Amino acid sequence: MQQAFIEQEGFQCGYCTPGQICSAVALLTELRAGDASLVTADLARTGPVMPTEDELRERMSGNICRCGAYVGIVGALRQVIQRT
Ligand code: FES
Repeated sequence: MQQAFIEQEGFQCGYCTPGQICSAVALLTELRAGDASLVTADLARTGPVMPTEDELRERMSGNICRCGAYVGIVGALRQVIQRT
């Protein structure tokens, strides 16, 4: 995840980055466990949750990035999801 943040430019000043990375790792665990979020469309499904844009942004929404590096953060998440 750290390497993906670097490659996708998921930070600028880096102040929020440790929290973003911790949340990102937890997000992956939640998706794989099938944990629902506020935007999960199908609550009756079983198995992993699809990592839609809404799911990623909702699950990371507790972390504020004053630099606005959200596009890179989502890019890092997508990179890790695709490689694992
Ligand atoms: S990278 Fe600066 S606050 Fe997020």
